[in-house]
Amino acid sequence: MIETVRSVVRFKPIELDPVERRLSRAADVGDLRRIARRRLPAGVFDYIDGGAEDERSLDANVAGFERLEFRPRVLRDVSKIDTSTALLGQPRPLPLVLSPTGFTRIADPEGELAVARAAARAGVPYSLSTMGTRSIEEVAAVSDGPKWFQVYTWKDRGLVKDLADRAAAAGYEAILLTVDTAVLGRRERDVRRGYTLPPKIGLDTIVDGVLHPSWTLGLLRNEPITFASVASNNTASDGSTAVSLAEYMNAQFDAALSWRDVEWLQSVWSGPIVLKGIQTVADAKLAVEVGVAGIALSNHGGRQLDGAPSIIELVEPVAQEVGGSIEILCDGGIRRGSDIVKALALGATGCMIGRAYLYALGAGGERGVDHVLRFLADGMERTMALTGCQQVSDITRDHVTWRT
Ligand code: GLV
Repeated sequence: MIETVRSVVRFKPIELDPVERRLSRAADVGDLRRIARRRLPAGVFDYIDGGAEDERSLDANVAGFERLEFRPRVLRDVSKIDTSTALLGQPRPLPLVLSPTGFTRIADPEGELAVARAAARAGVPYSLSTMGTRSIEEVAAVSDGPKWFQVYTWKDRGLVKDLADRAAAAGYEAILLTVDTAVLGRRERDVRRGYTLPPKIGLDTIVDGVLHPSWTLGLLRNEPITFASVASNNTASDGSTAVSLAEYMNAQFDAALSWRDVEWLQSVWSGPIVLKGIQTVADAKLAVEVGVAGIALSNHGGRQLDGAPSIIELVEPVAQEVGGSIEILCDGGIRRGSDIVKALALGATGCMIGRAYLYALGAGGERGVDHVLRFLADGMERTMALTGCQQVSDITRDHVTWRT
């Protein structure tokens, strides 16, 4: 009897590494979010997790994917699945891009460097934000993977040109121009907490810091958080002074941004340009007319205009109108590999993720980002197998339907 029990019961080796232990139990992005919430100070977590006003668009992005059901095909020989595709004309192992996020170092001291290294390992493009806390050159030094650079239009156009030139010299392939941030959305979680960026040490942050000692040590041991790419430029603030983000962005960025500025950007950047933040079919058509390489359908993760449309619901109408003339990325609410398959079925070229990797970074640093990228790739592969698609071009509109 004892022998029989012995033959089936095996003791699992105890995982001594705390990061591995945490990550091995994180079955999905929701688990990574919960771990990040535990590990990060409340103000930092809410800055990442929150959206604008009533957070309706933030919720709608995720809920949109839940309304889609698969129409799986069977008996299709799915012994070999190939998730590879082309993005902006380049072959990529996965139809996925990491979205630009500001202040990444508040989630982990390595910040953008950790994310860029993980993206390079996975072969997916990493987009560095103008409000990144590691510079264009620092990121290029640690990643020979595909890199895109995101710009806001600062009032100082000389600075934008300088950033674009530096990105080109450092081997960045494409520019993402964010077009949904004429003024900053009202993030009411930050208002309630009086949250400033970079985090300012006050009584509430001291209490939060004591409750989250490893985060606090990480912040204190490392150089101050600044907008690293603009830190050497003395015409713009480098973000090192704690202010409310709204105050900062509204002072530095140009609300007069218009389609003419897109043409100006084309004159100073010879590579592909993607307009990030397109939210209507009409603007998608204008993007085709102006001749950019791609659009990223995005409501800035529900952080800008609350009440903006759920992103996945925009994909099909936009693809019907301009698909084939321009690459269509979509960003907002992607939490699983199956969500990528849904977006592709409706006509997207690829998907972008922001929060999903920030939760992972907060939960487990660079290894957390590796973990979430593996999770998304595995999920996409499994979904393709279970819907009868061997390769990306097999994913069609017939594979999904809207639940009514
Ligand atoms: C910056 O882009 C933000 O959404 O906070």
